[in-house]
Amino acid sequence: MTRVSDISRIAISTGGGDAPGLNAVIRSVTLAAVRRGWEVLGIRDGFHGLMLPDDYPDGGLVRLDRDDVRGISHLGGTIIGSTNKGNPTAFPVQSTDGGWEEVDRTHELIGMFRQHEIDALVTVGGDGSLTIGNHLHRHGMRVIGVPKTIDNDLDKTTATFGFDTAVNFATECIDRLFTTATSHGRVIVVEVMGRYAGWIALHAGMAAGAHSILIPEIPYELERVAETIKERESRGAKYSIVVVAEGAMSIDGVISTKGKTVGQEVRLGGIGAKVAAGLEALTGRESRTIVLGHLLRGGPPTALDRLLGMRFGAGAVRALEEGHDGVMVALQPPNVIYVPLAEATASMKTVPPECDTMLTARDLGINFGD
Ligand code: F6P
Repeated sequence: MTRVSDISRIAISTGGGDAPGLNAVIRSVTLAAVRRGWEVLGIRDGFHGLMLPDDYPDGGLVRLDRDDVRGISHLGGTIIGSTNKGNPTAFPVQSTDGGWEEVDRTHELIGMFRQHEIDALVTVGGDGSLTIGNHLHRHGMRVIGVPKTIDNDLDKTTATFGFDTAVNFATECIDRLFTTATSHGRVIVVEVMGRYAGWIALHAGMAAGAHSILIPEIPYELERVAETIKERESRGAKYSIVVVAEGAMSIDGVISTKGKTVGQEVRLGGIGAKVAAGLEALTGRESRTIVLGHLLRGGPPTALDRLLGMRFGAGAVRALEEGHDGVMVALQPPNVIYVPLAEATASMKTVPPECDTMLTARDLGINFGD
């Protein structure tokens, strides 16, 4: 184990889809580290700054000091950039014939950390980035992970920052859609992010009073949703709101995708339009689709997400100071604890069909397409 006194320079990277609260983490890590006399380097765009230094005028690494992180906690995005294409274990490289292949560049990356005399890495990311973090840790790099995702699908932490902001924004959007749906007597289908887990759809849908919510955890039958709409209609309610997570799967196992690029996960999308068209055919009621998509990842973080980001950032620095390695900071109210990265990335946190929130939703009469 590296001794605390061995640390003089740390690096921070933000990887995967951005989430409101990332800048709060960056500021918190920087201030807590500088306070301990450590230098902080921000790696541009995940690990690209280290792996493709020539692509950056500043060489891909940016020194972060007190002044560099002033006034950023309330800003969405990440001042050091992010990418979901930079997996060093499967790095996309163009071959001479113009095609693309995925190459393992782990050793090269570790070499770059050594070259820049970086003693430890704080990597902020979701499942993908934390798995990479664990991989680097197993190859000798000192790593602390910070959980980030608007999808809230990381196991072993009660919360990830970005989720609260996404849910609040989605709720406001759905609130607004109610009035226009009512005015026109329409079905409005709202597609939200949520690749493997339906937390955003469930929480925002419930908070806003949606009538049907489709989530990846519960394969849906469109006929069941149409029944809910018709039943509402029989009671005089000529409009309905359906919230659907992008990763929702039909009973016959179909997920809506938009193709795959080398080095990236398959892109999801299109489920909202599909559900709206299907419901219009089944109910005869005019339908519209709204895709909230990346709007959910933008904008200022809520107070809760800012605070969580700050707690995670300072927690990561304390973890290093205390001699931890290969762990993720995690919220276990009222504390921030440390969980081995291997455990934190072993499984995802999906919506348990029998959890209290689901039971509550069912008691409220919300239909899940089952
Ligand atoms: O952050 C996770 C996520 O929001 C997923 O729900 C979604 O599938 C993905 O990001 C989309 O990311 P991008 O469009 O940046 O590839």
